[in-house]
Amino acid sequence: MTTTLVDNIGLLVTNDSSNDAGDGSPLGIVRDAAMVIEADRVLWVGRRTRAPEADSRVDFDRQTVVPGFVDSHSHLIFGADRADEFASRMAGTPYTAGGIAATLIATREASDDTLRVNASRLVAEMASSGTTTVEIKSGYGLTTDDEVRGLAIAHALTPESTFLGAHVVPIEYQGRRDDYVSLVAGPMLDACAAGTRWIDVFCDRGAFDVDEARLILQAGVARGLLPRLHAHQLERTGAVQLGVQLDAASVDHCNHMSDVDVDALAGSATVATVLPGADFSTRSVYADARRMIDAGVVVALATDCNPGSSYTTSMPFCIAVAVRDMHLTPAEALWSATAGGARALRRDDVGVLAVGKRADFAVIAAPSYVHLAYRPGVALVTATWKSAS
Ligand code: NIG
Ligand code: FE
Repeated sequence: MTTTLVDNIGLLVTNDSSNDAGDGSPLGIVRDAAMVIEADRVLWVGRRTRAPEADSRVDFDRQTVVPGFVDSHSHLIFGADRADEFASRMAGTPYTAGGIAATLIATREASDDTLRVNASRLVAEMASSGTTTVEIKSGYGLTTDDEVRGLAIAHALTPESTFLGAHVVPIEYQGRRDDYVSLVAGPMLDACAAGTRWIDVFCDRGAFDVDEARLILQAGVARGLLPRLHAHQLERTGAVQLGVQLDAASVDHCNHMSDVDVDALAGSATVATVLPGADFSTRSVYADARRMIDAGVVVALATDCNPGSSYTTSMPFCIAVAVRDMHLTPAEALWSATAGGARALRRDDVGVLAVGKRADFAVIAAPSYVHLAYRPGVALVTATWKSAS
């Protein structure tokens, strides 16, 4: 196996506070750094003057290197966008869960190829802005066959696939929501579980209540899936407490939070994933990530890329908004977009650049990671390195 010296890194963010050459901060910053990698793994990280020999060398010309972004929340399997809905929202129409029905029709009508090409295009877009790990949900099919085909497309793109049969109650089940919950927690789940890692429920106004969410998530857990959920985006339902009770890896959105919710998260292994793109594009009050971090909650940042509430693939954009409008420091926002996302996916091999971890990283044409927030909207990522595994 050949080794590569990744050399001449001006500033390297490792997220490894124990690195001897680092500054001891949570970002584990090493200046004038290098890494040696072999296949998909990091073999060595430190100051470049101490770097061991390797078979080949790449020179990053004093740019900044950060762990690849871990985008732990996206909905990429869909048939058409909803640009008109966005335009009307910007003219004052409020966001509701109801828009999902429009995507449902377009997704059911789309061919497998159309869905695959669209999702692949979005994953490529993510990679071009530095994302190396992505979670992808189903949830715009909502028949057993459509959910199975959506997940098959997701499985081909990522190991982090999520069954979201409980996105909304589809129109053909109107007035029969209990039947739909039974379908999702029964035959649909059975058909979707193989090869899928996670189960999610949109537990909110216009979607599913806490009792329905508990039933569906527990059915998923019984079939070996791991729980996560959409919680407190539109109102405070109790979904955050449910997530903590079920040891969900993450509760996502968290716009409406009481002290009790924040305290419950702070004492748990459940991450709060905030979605700046959704708050931006639905013109909502931003999730109070500052308050959660101050209370000791682990916070992740993700795009929530979907055609309704957040049609962005850019983690740098989310970092910029999290800094500007959620009052995170640039260091906190970067940590949340990398190590925080890894925690939200219960992964310890990504989001950190240390010996034995995955050699997944983004190269930024700037003297510091701060520029990710300081230069919003500028394409600073010059290379994304994700070794084949
Ligand atoms: O996470 N909130 C639920 N699901 C998506 C939005 C889906 C849609 O509007 O199409 C979200 O924001
Ligand atoms: Fe979502």
